[in-house]
Amino acid sequence: MKPSCRRILITYKRSSLFGFQIPISNHSPVSKTHRGIHTCNNVVLGFRRGVIGSNQKGFCCSDSSCSRQPRLLLNGCQYRKFSRLVSKVASDYRNHSTSVESHVNDTSWERIYIQGGLNVKPWVIEEVKKKEETDDGLLDFSREDVDIADRKESEIEKEAWKLLRGSIVNYCGSPVGTIAATDPADKLPLNYDQVFIRDFIPSALAFLLNGEGEIVKNFLLHTLQLQSWEKTVDCHSPGQGLMPASFKVRSVPLDGRPGEFEDILDPDFGESAIGRVAPVDSGLWWIILLRAYGKITGDYTLQERVDVQTGIRLILKLCLADGFDMFPTLLVTDGSCMIDRRMGIHGHPLEIQALFYSALRCSREMVIVNDSTKDLVAAINNRLSALCFHIREYYWVDMKKINEIYRYQTEEYSTDAINKFNIYPEQIPSWLVDWFPESGGYLIGNLQPAHMDFRFFTLGNLWAIVSSLGSPKQNDGILNLIEEKWDDLVANMPLKISYPALDNEEWRIITGSDPKNTPWSYHNGGSWPTLLWQFTLACIKMKRPELARKAIDIAEMRLSSDKWPEYYDTRYGRFIGKQSRLYQTWTIAGFLTSKKLLENPDMTSRLFWEEDYQLLENCVCGLGGKNGRKKCSRSAPQSHRVV
Ligand code: GLC
Repeated sequence: MKPSCRRILITYKRSSLFGFQIPISNHSPVSKTHRGIHTCNNVVLGFRRGVIGSNQKGFCCSDSSCSRQPRLLLNGCQYRKFSRLVSKVASDYRNHSTSVESHVNDTSWERIYIQGGLNVKPWVIEEVKKKEETDDGLLDFSREDVDIADRKESEIEKEAWKLLRGSIVNYCGSPVGTIAATDPADKLPLNYDQVFIRDFIPSALAFLLNGEGEIVKNFLLHTLQLQSWEKTVDCHSPGQGLMPASFKVRSVPLDGRPGEFEDILDPDFGESAIGRVAPVDSGLWWIILLRAYGKITGDYTLQERVDVQTGIRLILKLCLADGFDMFPTLLVTDGSCMIDRRMGIHGHPLEIQALFYSALRCSREMVIVNDSTKDLVAAINNRLSALCFHIREYYWVDMKKINEIYRYQTEEYSTDAINKFNIYPEQIPSWLVDWFPESGGYLIGNLQPAHMDFRFFTLGNLWAIVSSLGSPKQNDGILNLIEEKWDDLVANMPLKISYPALDNEEWRIITGSDPKNTPWSYHNGGSWPTLLWQFTLACIKMKRPELARKAIDIAEMRLSSDKWPEYYDTRYGRFIGKQSRLYQTWTIAGFLTSKKLLENPDMTSRLFWEEDYQLLENCVCGLGGKNGRKKCSRSAPQSHRVV
């Protein structure tokens, strides 16, 4: 049945932050029953190609190849000159963001920060072979780069594809996402019958790497429409720009037309979620996926659309807004990401910081520079630089750093303090003392005044590698640690979400006695096969695909016969999780994406970022000069230098 044509009032709050005005559209009002939801024939939602606003004039080159992959081979100096020439083209970053050779010298960070030198290694921009264009000017990625026919799919992969396709949700006849789990025996699906933004990422990548872009494009555009919706939780409106955690497609009877139905999209911004957790990661994932869509399909017109550019800016506006915070990291409440229950990850959890950093790097490539966005672009660059410094300097732990913390002086009142966050050495947990390998290290889970959360959180560490939030040496160190601690972090099912588990009093106090998060279960030290694709991506980036292969082989032995569980329990991941959903879509998609990533190293390289020396050169506060009256905290003596 054809859905009725309905128009929706979309009212944006006006804002001039970062110099941009958010459009106010005045379509006729939506009926009360449809408040907070989204119907099929929403006027602002057409999948028009190449809807380019006036703000792009001066950005677009007449030569279409200009916005694609250039043939460049520049050294550092030439690059700086070049970048001045094209300083108006932020999205030029898109062309070389992932293609810097990774022959990075381990001491580069030190050279830039300690010696303050500009002795930057030459940038080598890989030559990217020009791809065939289709009639409509889009790159035909399904023919050349994604050679699906080449390798024979295993029976397990075939089953996984069938299940993934079975989880697809249609809205007004078009695919818009995949639901979280499709276990036919599940009598109480709660919200597992919804499309979660974060869960859809591996599905999207599997489809993209298989040459199927439509569902991803639809997903990006439909969730964009949900973002702009007015939402309230107990009479409070969360900030404009928030992306929902999930949405559901509902079929509802049409008013006054008996027997007729229409599809509506019903988002959940946390107002129904258990614990009312804020989906901070959704917008960050949305930006990351938008960039991946462009990189893999070659269709950059999507990210250049005015409504999409506005969507990016709204998310950034929320993330970059001033608050009371003292750190460049994003301050969030507990459970605001994949771990969406109370787990003591409020404050500045690593996962959010790594996604934030990635989203900023994506935005830097995608935001179109003009007079109204130049302040935003400057804010992005400054934040990237400060965030990267902060995480590398203060979140990193290895044997040397732990030993320094062990000998910390406390109660230092000075801008030169070595123990800046006043960490009491007694906080070093006993498990860590025995556990730490001689080589390798990792980024801790969280940092707050007088508090370091030493737990190892896998997603944050993997995504730090993928986005180059960690230094090249740190990134290597993280993989070394995973390899050394394989039995703890991989064991019978890749990978532990966090290590170690909280138990006894800690479990009682930190989780609030959560019966789902008992030791070695679910978020509290459970094993999540969906993390496999992020591990694979990180391993390929660090040129260690054999590690990924080993993990995939372990997963492949059990996933299908165990019915694709959401997570596994016990210290070594031996049992299917007590409350684990079966046929969990991101388990299935994570497995397929991992396989695809290994098969397509060229495509894979478009999904990660190498070290960016321009960012390292920036001292954002400008107080680092020798004669500066105030000291830049970066130039103040550091207890520990990371390289
Ligand atoms: C659980 C997970 C969350 C996921 C959701 C749907 O709540 O913690 O990360 O998005 O299930 O699969």
